[in-house]
Amino acid sequence: MKSSILFAALSSIASVTAYPQYLETRQAWTPQEWIAPGDGDSRGPCPGLNTLANHGYLPRNGKGINLSKLADAMLAGFNIARSDAVILYSQAIRTSPNYPLASSFDLSDLGTHGILEHDISLSRSDAYFADPNPFNATVWAETASHFTTPMITVEQVAKARMGRLATSKATNPEHELSALADGFSWGECASFFEIMADGTTGTVNKTFIEYWFRNERMPTEIGWKRRSTTMPSSERLKYTRLLEEAAGVSGILRRDAYGRPLFH
Ligand code: HEM
Repeated sequence: MKSSILFAALSSIASVTAYPQYLETRQAWTPQEWIAPGDGDSRGPCPGLNTLANHGYLPRNGKGINLSKLADAMLAGFNIARSDAVILYSQAIRTSPNYPLASSFDLSDLGTHGILEHDISLSRSDAYFADPNPFNATVWAETASHFTTPMITVEQVAKARMGRLATSKATNPEHELSALADGFSWGECASFFEIMADGTTGTVNKTFIEYWFRNERMPTEIGWKRRSTTMPSSERLKYTRLLEEAAGVSGILRRDAYGRPLFH
């Protein structure tokens, strides 16, 4: 009897050693501690990167983010491929005041209007009306009015984004949306389905999105799990295409989800 228990124990240790992923999938993933940003911490208009800093995957002060810190954080926190971080870093670095000599950026650099930060955000004000960096409850209420079912769909996000475009055009005398911002904003919308869901369904739980945007925190306490498969860049492009098709604007864009030129 004792020897059979010993044998069972030894064989389970052996299988874990041989297949480290076995251990990983059996243990629930929990995020690093969430701590609200303090005075002097740098935060910007991106709920994704602010969340990674609030959980300590990025430096908690939001400063001095180089490529290796960014790629490690996106992979560890959201299971996003390093190749995706490489492309986004090449855009992020352009917002640093030290560009083209910069080798890192701060989260607040991303909020400089007209480089990456743009009008028509889902949860931030147009820069003409107010600081475009913090979450804005009025703007978010307009966006969320399109999320009419417990599971948000690609069509709903496309409508919400086109609704923000229409509002900005109608009310902002300085409304502007560069080709880069146009493509980039679809890429931001795509992250709903890739990061707050697992990229397979084209739907996402509304409560996860609400919690994430309002708190800049991973919604694990209400049941969200980090996706178990690594998100490749091809998936961001796929969801961008689906969103554009749902909005009836596919084929019009001159930039992809990373702001890179497209040639038709
Ligand atoms: C280096 C990587 C990244 C860069 C440079 C970046 C940059 C930005 C910038 C500049 C904005 C503001 C655009 C605007 O609304 O004016 C933004 C918004 C956004 N980002 Fe990121 N981001 C990055 C990574 C991520 C990640 C990992 C996620 C998801 C987990 C994410 C999700 C979003 C979403 C959903 C928005 C839209 C916010 C809104 O419209 O209110 N981003 N990002």
